[in-house]
Amino acid sequence: MRLPTLILPVLKLYLVGLKVLLYQLFNKSFTVPVFPKQNGRVAIVTGGAKGMGYETARHLTSLGMHVVIAGNSEEEGLAAVQKIREENKKGKVEFQFLDLASLKSIHQFVQTFKGRGLPLHVLINNAGVMLVPESQTEDGFELHLGLNYLGHFLLTNLLLDALKRSGSHDSCTRIITVSSATHYVGVLNLQDLQSRSCYSAHGAYAQSKLALVLFSYYLQQKLTSKGFPVMVNVVDPGMVNTDLYKNLCTPAQLIKRPVAWLLFRTPAEGASTAIYAAASPAMEGVGGCYLYNGRRTQSSTTSYDEDLQAQLWRQSCALVGLPVGDWSAN
Ligand SMILES: NC(=O)c1ccc[n+]([C@@H]2O[C@H](COP(=O)([O-])OP(=O)(O)OC[C@H]3O[C@@H](n4cnc5c(N)ncnc54)[C@H](OP(=O)(O)O)[C@@H]3O)[C@@H](O)[C@H]2O)c1
Ligand SMILES: *[C@@H]1O[C@H](CO)[C@@H](O)[C@H](O)[C@H]1NC(C)=O
Repeated sequence: MRLPTLILPVLKLYLVGLKVLLYQLFNKSFTVPVFPKQNGRVAIVTGGAKGMGYETARHLTSLGMHVVIAGNSEEEGLAAVQKIREENKKGKVEFQFLDLASLKSIHQFVQTFKGRGLPLHVLINNAGVMLVPESQTEDGFELHLGLNYLGHFLLTNLLLDALKRSGSHDSCTRIITVSSATHYVGVLNLQDLQSRSCYSAHGAYAQSKLALVLFSYYLQQKLTSKGFPVMVNVVDPGMVNTDLYKNLCTPAQLIKRPVAWLLFRTPAEGASTAIYAAASPAMEGVGGCYLYNGRRTQSSTTSYDEDLQAQLWRQSCALVGLPVGDWSAN
């Protein structure tokens, strides 16, 4: 029983990868159209110091948004800010420390951000890790689940009042969650969210990305039912050549390199759908979508399961220490 439970997630992940590569072989990447300037809008991009997050931060800054890069490396963050400012002298971009693997750091980040009295129009939940060896966050959560999902779950909830206040019915604020095609093969195990019984890095990554989709749909439904002007969408960037793949084992690295060179998207291409979701006038008032290559598409059947969404929400609240509150009341 143990062998299949270890090998299956790996096989499933590679199969999804192949499918995405086939798509990328035959389909061009979506290109971001020219958007109107967005001066005065404030955006937070988690993991915005490199990879797709950096490209997203850079693009939103060029549109006139005030961008806060939220990341766990001050050195990288400040370097990213400097690089964006070199291209764009008037760009409003800054770094603020956030370690998504620490609930305390998330609270501190939000407190500091709120202390400045800025509005918040766009939150991009982009940071993530993949295929890390079995390890835990500061609070003892399995790292993929804790950082990719629970960290963003808490961050989003703590920033929700600012997002609600900054939106209006003809100009909604936007939450964008970066998931992945791996969510299609993700299995959410509510009895063992932390993968304690049998750890598979592949399974844990896919589960964290599925949790992000379930959470986003549930949040959108709750916001809509209460009439709040906040839109939540999920973005799937495709396969993109970034440091995310640094934890692949050596043989897989050797295969990945030429394949990435031929078929992976560049970080700027990978970021294009998130930028679209964050800035496109066509996305005004649109929420609860799964966007891939600039278009709406279906996510996995499981991701639409409303019971599962509600159960996950309740467990997540308990894990990060949030009151379930009236959100859970249907
Ligand atoms: N690349 C792909 O093919 C692909 C496919 C599907 C989905 N995605 C998703 O796209 C998103 C962006 O990834 P990427 O490909 O651009 O990879 P990346 O270049 O490795 O970027 C990930 C970002 O997350 C940050 N991060 C990691 N741990 C953090 C923590 N504890 N607190 C705060 N920030 C943290 C990283 O900062 P440090 O490195 O400084 O820690 C980095 O800035 C991820 O959510 C990923 O799952 C990527
Ligand atoms: C290319 O994109 C189209 C439209 O999204 C899709 O129907 C088709 O399956 C894609 N091609 C491949 C090989 O995936």
